[in-house]
Order: sequence, then C-alpha cells, then structure tokens
Amino acid sequence: MATDLLSIRPGRASDAAQIAAIYEEAWRATYQGVIPHLALERMIARRGTAWWRRALERRSATLVLEFDGQTVGYAGYGQSRMRRTPYQGEIYELYVRPAYQGVGFGTELFDMVRIKLMDHGLDGLVVWCLADNERACSFYLALGGKPVSEGIETFADVTLRKVAFAWASSNRSS
Ligand SMILES: CC(C)(COP(=O)(O)OP(=O)(O)OC[C@H]1O[C@@H](n2cnc3c(N)ncnc32)[C@H](O)[C@@H]1OP(=O)(O)O)[C@@H](O)C(=O)NCCC(=O)NCCS
Repeated sequence: MATDLLSIRPGRASDAAQIAAIYEEAWRATYQGVIPHLALERMIARRGTAWWRRALERRSATLVLEFDGQTVGYAGYGQSRMRRTPYQGEIYELYVRPAYQGVGFGTELFDMVRIKLMDHGLDGLVVWCLADNERACSFYLALGGKPVSEGIETFADVTLRKVAFAWASSNRSS
C-alpha cells in the first residue's frame, strides 16, 4: 500500500456526509441477512448526515481515514462503557468502506485509536462485535484481541450474540 497516500485525522463536522455514507455502505454489506431488514433500515436512517454533524459538532472522538483523497473509513472511540472493567478505553465503531476492506486500512485505524486512547490516559481497550460478524471477529482476533465477555443485542424480534474483545494494556500485542 502506498502509505504516502494515506492519512488519518480527527473528524470534523464537514465529514458528516462522508461518514454517514460509509456507515450506510458498511452496515448494508455487513448486516444484511443478519439484522432484520426494517431494523437495519431504521438504524441507517437514524445515523444520517444530520446525526453525524451533531455528533462531530459535539466533538465526539472520531478519526477519519483518507486514501488518495477519498474518505474510506472512520472510527469512534472513548471511555469504556463497561462497568467494573480493567479496560479503560473502547472502540465504539470502526468501519471501512466495503471496496477498501482487506488491504490494511482497518488495522491503520485501530493502531491510531490505540495511540489516541493512550494520549488520553486510557489504558487497555475493549470492542464489542456481533458474533455473526465473522470478518470483524477474525480481524480483532488477528490484532491480538482476547474474547473477555459476551452479551446480547436485540433488533426487532431477533436477538443476536455479541462478543467483547479486549487488549489488556496499551501495547497491541498484550
Ligand atoms: C472489520 C473491518 C474494520 C476490518 O478492516 P479491514 O481494513 O478490512 O482489515 P485489514 O485489512 O486491516 O485486516 C487485518 C487483519 O484482519 C483479518 N481479516 C480481515 N478481513 C478478514 C476476512 N474477511 N476474513 C478473515 N480475516 C480477516 C486478517 O487477519 C487481516 O490480516 P491479513 O490481511 O494480514 O491477513 C472491516 O472489514 C469493516 O469495516 N467491516 C465492516 C464493518 C465492521 O464489521 N466493523 C466492525 C464492527 S465491530
């Protein structure tokens, strides 16, 4: 990969439309046939440009990955939402446009989020992933994540299993 064409920077309100488009593309490609159709469409409709503009204006921590002038991925992160956990940081979401998956962009975003979490004094990291999302589970396992907890997520009348992957310290391999 030509790394000089790649950059990762904090998201700003003017990225809202691009991020909403990535969210929509990635959700359709990943969750069609997993999450019931209506629930999937509702989630996508809720997370449109206006939602993202508000979130970015409130300065929610978001990183945007650009490649060759195109916005191709983003990650949202912050304090862990798990109670009584040794993992202080959390990736809330990490999405790469389907056409750009599998060439290392997800790893680049993941590594940069870890640096940002460390900068904020948050040690350790957790990320939740639907168990049916095999690609993402393989991705987090390949990055050294350990499955540490399970839960459920309900979409309409369908209940899906989710898994928390964790990294014990700021060092990706631990
Ligand atoms: C999951 C996701 C973020 C991974 O990003 P990516 O850019 O495709 O991943 P990378 O190219 O950096 O892959 C890193 C490693 O993950 C693993 N991996 C990636 N895609 C995989 C696949 N389809 N099957 C198995 N392992 C896979 C591999 O070990 C890979 O390393 P390798 O290329 O040396 O074999 C991306 O596929 C994505 O956005 N998916 C849709 C949204 C999503 O599911 N997000 C996570 C929600 S929790």
